[in-house]
Amino acid sequence: MKTLVAYFSQTGKTKMVADAIYESIEGEKELKELGEVDSLEGYDLSFIGFPIIAFGPAKEGKEFLEQKAAGKKVALFITHAAPEDQEGIDEWLNKCKAAAASAELVGFFDCMGELSEQIAEFLMKNDDPMMRSFGERRPETIGQPDESRLQRARDFAREVMARL
Ligand SMILES: Cc1cc2nc3c(=O)[nH]c(=O)nc-3n(C[C@H](O)[C@H](O)[C@H](O)COP(=O)(O)O)c2cc1C
Repeated sequence: MKTLVAYFSQTGKTKMVADAIYESIEGEKELKELGEVDSLEGYDLSFIGFPIIAFGPAKEGKEFLEQKAAGKKVALFITHAAPEDQEGIDEWLNKCKAAAASAELVGFFDCMGELSEQIAEFLMKNDDPMMRSFGERRPETIGQPDESRLQRARDFAREVMARL
Protein backbone atom coordinates (compact mmCIF):
# COMPACT_ATOMS: atom_id res chain seq x y z
CA MET A 1 0.00 0.00 0.00
CA LYS A 2 1.49 3.34 -1.08
CA THR A 3 0.03 6.48 0.47
CA LEU A 4 0.52 10.12 -0.45
CA VAL A 5 -0.03 13.06 1.86
CA ALA A 6 -0.17 16.28 -0.19
CA TYR A 7 -1.05 19.76 1.00
CA PHE A 8 -1.42 23.36 -0.04
CA SER A 9 -0.59 25.70 2.85
CA GLN A 10 0.08 29.43 2.74
CA THR A 11 0.89 30.00 6.42
CA GLY A 12 1.78 26.47 7.59
CA LYS A 13 -1.42 25.48 9.42
CA THR A 14 -2.64 22.89 6.93
CA LYS A 15 0.96 21.63 6.79
CA MET A 16 0.82 20.97 10.56
CA VAL A 17 -2.19 18.72 9.95
CA ALA A 18 -0.42 17.10 6.98
CA ASP A 19 2.60 16.32 9.18
CA ALA A 20 0.35 14.80 11.86
CA ILE A 21 -1.40 12.61 9.29
CA TYR A 22 1.89 11.61 7.68
CA GLU A 23 3.46 10.53 10.96
CA SER A 24 0.43 8.32 11.73
CA ILE A 25 0.59 6.37 8.49
CA GLU A 26 2.37 3.05 8.26
CA GLY A 27 3.80 1.50 5.12
CA GLU A 28 5.18 3.17 2.03
CA LYS A 29 4.39 6.89 2.15
CA GLU A 30 5.30 10.28 0.68
CA LEU A 31 4.69 13.84 1.91
CA LYS A 32 4.56 16.56 -0.76
CA GLU A 33 3.33 20.04 -1.46
CA LEU A 34 0.35 19.91 -3.77
CA GLY A 35 2.20 21.90 -6.44
CA GLU A 36 4.81 19.14 -6.64
CA VAL A 37 2.26 16.45 -7.45
CA ASP A 38 1.74 15.87 -11.18
CA SER A 39 -0.47 12.82 -10.84
CA LEU A 40 -2.01 10.49 -8.25
CA GLU A 41 -1.12 7.45 -10.36
CA GLY A 42 0.85 4.92 -8.36
CA TYR A 43 -0.74 5.80 -5.01
CA ASP A 44 -3.35 3.52 -3.47
CA LEU A 45 -4.61 6.35 -1.26
CA SER A 46 -4.01 10.11 -1.21
CA PHE A 47 -4.67 12.44 1.72
CA ILE A 48 -5.16 15.89 0.15
CA GLY A 49 -5.31 19.02 2.30
CA PHE A 50 -5.85 22.76 1.84
CA PRO A 51 -7.46 25.71 3.66
CA ILE A 52 -10.82 27.37 3.24
CA ILE A 53 -10.31 30.65 1.39
CA ALA A 54 -13.24 33.04 1.01
CA PHE A 55 -15.97 30.57 2.10
CA GLY A 56 -14.87 27.69 -0.11
CA PRO A 57 -11.90 25.52 -1.08
CA ALA A 58 -8.59 27.23 -1.85
CA LYS A 59 -8.36 27.49 -5.63
CA GLU A 60 -5.19 25.38 -5.66
CA GLY A 61 -6.98 22.53 -3.88
CA LYS A 62 -10.17 22.76 -5.89
CA GLU A 63 -8.37 22.74 -9.24
CA PHE A 64 -6.09 19.89 -8.21
CA LEU A 65 -9.06 17.71 -7.25
CA GLU A 66 -11.03 18.57 -10.37
CA GLN A 67 -8.10 17.93 -12.70
CA LYS A 68 -6.14 15.10 -11.09
CA ALA A 69 -8.24 13.07 -8.68
CA ALA A 70 -10.80 11.35 -10.94
CA GLY A 71 -11.28 7.72 -9.98
CA LYS A 72 -8.65 7.86 -7.20
CA LYS A 73 -9.13 7.09 -3.52
CA VAL A 74 -8.89 10.43 -1.75
CA ALA A 75 -9.23 11.52 1.90
CA LEU A 76 -9.55 15.28 2.39
CA PHE A 77 -8.27 17.39 5.28
CA ILE A 78 -9.26 21.03 5.49
CA THR A 79 -8.34 23.88 7.84
CA HIS A 80 -10.33 27.07 8.43
CA ALA A 81 -10.24 29.93 10.89
CA ALA A 82 -13.85 29.45 11.97
CA PRO A 83 -14.70 27.13 14.87
CA GLU A 84 -15.73 23.65 13.68
CA ASP A 85 -19.31 24.14 14.88
CA GLN A 86 -19.87 27.54 13.30
CA GLU A 87 -23.17 27.87 11.49
CA GLY A 88 -22.79 27.82 7.71
CA ILE A 89 -19.44 26.06 7.67
CA ASP A 90 -21.00 22.90 6.20
CA GLU A 91 -21.67 24.82 3.02
CA TRP A 92 -17.95 25.64 2.61
CA LEU A 93 -16.94 22.09 3.43
CA ASN A 94 -19.50 20.70 0.99
CA LYS A 95 -17.87 22.78 -1.73
CA CYS A 96 -14.59 21.00 -0.93
CA LYS A 97 -16.32 17.63 -1.18
CA ALA A 98 -17.97 18.70 -4.46
CA ALA A 99 -14.53 19.46 -5.92
CA ALA A 100 -13.68 15.80 -5.24
CA ALA A 101 -16.88 14.52 -6.89
CA SER A 102 -14.99 12.57 -9.56
CA ALA A 103 -12.75 10.92 -6.96
CA GLU A 104 -13.64 8.13 -4.54
CA LEU A 105 -13.87 10.11 -1.29
CA VAL A 106 -12.88 7.73 1.52
CA GLY A 107 -12.49 10.19 4.39
CA PHE A 108 -12.99 13.80 5.42
CA PHE A 109 -11.44 15.83 8.24
CA ASP A 110 -11.58 19.52 9.12
CA CYS A 111 -10.30 21.65 11.96
CA MET A 112 -9.47 25.19 12.96
CA GLY A 113 -6.20 26.76 11.87
CA GLU A 114 -4.77 30.06 13.04
CA LEU A 115 -5.54 33.12 10.96
CA SER A 116 -2.13 34.74 10.57
CA GLU A 117 -1.62 38.35 11.66
CA GLN A 118 -0.71 39.40 8.13
CA ILE A 119 -3.81 37.76 6.64
CA ALA A 120 -6.04 39.23 9.38
CA GLU A 121 -4.78 42.73 8.57
CA PHE A 122 -5.34 42.09 4.88
CA LEU A 123 -8.89 40.81 5.48
CA MET A 124 -9.76 43.79 7.68
CA LYS A 125 -9.07 46.08 4.72
CA ASN A 126 -11.39 44.08 2.43
CA ASP A 127 -14.50 45.64 0.87
CA ASP A 128 -16.60 42.62 1.83
CA PRO A 129 -17.95 43.03 5.41
CA MET A 130 -17.95 39.22 5.84
CA MET A 131 -14.22 39.19 5.10
CA ARG A 132 -13.62 42.09 7.48
CA SER A 133 -15.47 40.31 10.26
CA PHE A 134 -13.25 37.28 9.67
CA GLY A 135 -10.13 39.35 10.07
CA GLU A 136 -11.37 40.54 13.46
CA ARG A 137 -11.61 36.97 14.70
CA ARG A 138 -7.88 36.27 14.68
CA PRO A 139 -7.50 36.27 18.53
CA GLU A 140 -9.73 33.22 18.97
CA THR A 141 -7.74 31.29 16.35
CA ILE A 142 -4.25 31.82 17.82
CA GLY A 143 -2.45 28.56 18.52
CA GLN A 144 -4.62 26.44 16.23
CA PRO A 145 -4.43 23.65 15.31
CA ASP A 146 -3.65 22.78 18.92
CA GLU A 147 -2.52 19.39 20.17
CA SER A 148 -6.08 18.08 20.59
CA ARG A 149 -6.87 18.90 16.97
CA LEU A 150 -3.63 17.35 15.75
CA GLN A 151 -4.51 14.24 17.75
CA ARG A 152 -7.90 14.13 16.03
CA ALA A 153 -6.05 14.34 12.69
CA ARG A 154 -3.82 11.39 13.67
CA ASP A 155 -6.89 9.39 14.74
CA PHE A 156 -8.60 10.26 11.46
CA ALA A 157 -5.61 9.02 9.43
CA ARG A 158 -5.43 5.75 11.38
CA GLU A 159 -9.19 5.21 11.02
CA VAL A 160 -9.05 5.69 7.22
CA MET A 161 -6.04 3.39 6.91
CA ALA A 162 -7.67 0.70 9.06
CA ARG A 163 -10.88 0.84 7.03
CA LEU A 164 -9.15 0.41 3.65
C1 LIG B 1 -7.61 35.26 1.74
C2 LIG B 1 -8.07 34.34 2.86
C3 LIG B 1 -9.41 34.08 3.03
C4 LIG B 1 -9.85 33.23 4.05
N1 LIG B 1 -11.17 32.95 4.17
C5 LIG B 1 -11.60 32.14 5.17
C6 LIG B 1 -12.97 31.79 5.27
O1 LIG B 1 -13.81 32.16 4.46
N2 LIG B 1 -13.36 31.00 6.31
C7 LIG B 1 -12.47 30.55 7.24
O2 LIG B 1 -12.89 29.88 8.19
N3 LIG B 1 -11.15 30.83 7.14
C8 LIG B 1 -10.69 31.60 6.12
N4 LIG B 1 -9.36 31.86 6.01
C9 LIG B 1 -8.45 31.34 7.04
C10 LIG B 1 -7.68 30.08 6.65
O3 LIG B 1 -8.53 29.10 6.11
C11 LIG B 1 -6.99 29.49 7.90
O4 LIG B 1 -6.21 30.45 8.55
C12 LIG B 1 -6.14 28.29 7.51
O5 LIG B 1 -5.87 27.49 8.64
C13 LIG B 1 -4.83 28.70 6.87
O6 LIG B 1 -4.17 27.55 6.40
P1 LIG B 1 -2.68 27.58 5.85
O7 LIG B 1 -1.80 28.13 6.95
O8 LIG B 1 -2.39 26.15 5.59
O9 LIG B 1 -2.66 28.41 4.62
C14 LIG B 1 -8.91 32.67 4.97
C15 LIG B 1 -7.55 32.92 4.77
C16 LIG B 1 -7.12 33.72 3.73
C17 LIG B 1 -5.66 33.92 3.53
